[in-house]
Formats: sequence, structure tokens, C-alpha cells
Amino acid sequence: MNLIERPRRLRRTESIRALVRETKLSPDDFVYPLFVCEGEGLRREIASMPGAFNLSIDELVKEVESARSAGVRSVILFGVPDEKNAVGNQAYAEDGITQRAIRALKRELKDVLVIADNCLCEYTDHGHCGVIEGGEVLNDPTLELLARTAVSQAEAGADIIAPSNMMDGFVAAIREALDEAGFEQIPIMSYAVKYASGFYGPFREAAQSAPQFGDRRGYQMDPANSREAMREAELDYQQGADILMVKPALPYLDIIRAVRERFDLPVAAYQVSGEYAMIKAAARLGWIDEERVALESLVSIKRAGADIILTYFARELAARLA
Ligand code: PBG
Repeated sequence: MNLIERPRRLRRTESIRALVRETKLSPDDFVYPLFVCEGEGLRREIASMPGAFNLSIDELVKEVESARSAGVRSVILFGVPDEKNAVGNQAYAEDGITQRAIRALKRELKDVLVIADNCLCEYTDHGHCGVIEGGEVLNDPTLELLARTAVSQAEAGADIIAPSNMMDGFVAAIREALDEAGFEQIPIMSYAVKYASGFYGPFREAAQSAPQFGDRRGYQMDPANSREAMREAELDYQQGADILMVKPALPYLDIIRAVRERFDLPVAAYQVSGEYAMIKAAARLGWIDEERVALESLVSIKRAGADIILTYFARELAARLA
């Protein structure tokens, strides 16, 4: 009788490891987040996110074209407008930066799926995700603006609307407005479980969207809570979300798994700016192998249960996986 179990038999060569591998990444899993700004010929690298840029529309089209040829089919857009004000009206302007960018992409690259992030913080001068009164972010008045934003994004040609602002009732409000405007076929990918996270720091530099007073803990979730995550996901499910997102990703793998087990909708996870920045920074110091750590992080996010991964590594790694 052989008393030793020998799992190493299945690890001896790369071909046998490939045969028994349980989780495989594909460029089809990726959504590539991009920041679009005013101007022409602009490709401004974000200091804390090497390899990520503020792109004018013409440069955005080139970037998406190159990502597409590497195998990336989906992008999510964040607008960085020149003009910000108290009610973030560039978020829902017909000729807003995001709306023009969506039109340009749908015109130039027909088979690329364009997701529109739906929030106000990149468009408000105070940097909060909604309308402010007496230092408070008002919930219901903000919903109307998010709904208008969603309709304007769908009119511009967005394939999916991704509301990220964590007001109560935002999925229902957006669903209703989209349906009324004849966009009942446009899915909602809800940032259902979004934590108030320090990992968003570099994004706020990229989008110049750091809150000018206070923080987002009054609407984004407490990192300590997981039962509350189930409640948030359940509410968005009931309100008609088509895809549920968890954000950030790597520090919240337990939450990704719990959402996966509890709901039958596709689950998305957002590997956010700070997760990307940490890998880039350590790699620049020569302390880790960038590609290896990036792939390991992404495969972990998928193994935890994510079907869709939003990642700034999408273009760089797609070619490697194709
Ligand atoms: C907008 C939004 C944010 C991110 C995605 N959508 C910023 C925030 O909530 O402060 C962060 C993404 C990232 O860090 O990569 N509300």
C-alpha cells in the first residue's frame, strides 16, 4: 500500500499543469477603463498610474483600436471635463465629453462594447457624487441627474450603463428612465457593492475628482461590512440590475465569492487604480515581477468568482493571453 498521496504528479510539466488548470483568464473577461478629456492630440500620463493616460477623443480612438487588436472587446469610459460646477451638468450634456467620446468610438470601432460609467463626481466642482445641500449629499435629487445622465449616454450609443455613485435607489431610477426613453434593451452593470476605499486615490488624481470637503463614507460602504454587501447586492438585483459589481477587487475576494454564491447574475470585479498603482510601483523598484503579479492578481479575482474584470492592465495583458 502506498501511503503517500502524490499531487505533484499533476504539476510536473507545463502541459500537465495546463491540462488540469481550473481557472483561465481570457481577454474576453476584461473591461478596459479609460479617461477621456477635452483637447486634441493629448495623451497625458497619470503620474500615479504609469501606463494609464488622460486621452483626448482622437487619442482615445487610437488607444481603443490598439486594445481591440490585442483582443480587448470592452471599455468603460470616465469623462474628465474642463468645466465643473455644483450640479455636474457636463455629466448629462448632450455634447458632454463622455457623450462625444461614446459617439466617436461607436462610429470608428463598431464592434467594441462601450460601457458608460454613470456618476457625478468627475463633473462636480466639490467632487462629491451628488447634489450638495448644507454639507450633505442629497439622495433623491441626485437620482434625477443620474437618470438624465444615463439617458444621454444611451442616446450617444453606450451599450451598457454602469452607475457607480451609491445613492439609494439608483438602479430603479436609471432603469425607469432608460425604459421610458425606449432603451429597455440597454443593460445596467451596477456598482452594487462599492466600498469607501483608500485604493481609489490614483483615480481621483486621474479624474481630478477628490472630494473638496469630507469624504465618501456617507454613501460608499464601510470596508468592515460583508452582510451589508449582501443587502446592497439584493437591492440592486430587485431593482433590475443585469450585472453586479464588487469594488475594489483583491482586498474584497470574500465579498466577490459571497455575491457569486448568492446571485445568478454575472459578477464583475473592479481592480481599482490603487491596486494597479501598487503593482506598478513595486515593479518599478524591482521588488516584484510586474506581469507575473498582475496575472496572479487577476486569476485570483476570477477564481473568487468574478466573470468580468475591470482592469487597467487590460491592453498590456490581453496580447500576452491571446
Ligand atoms: C466614480 C468612480 C470612482 C472609481 C470608479 N468610479 C471613484 C470614487 O468613487 O471615488 C474608482 C476607480 C478606481 O480607483 O480605479 N464614483
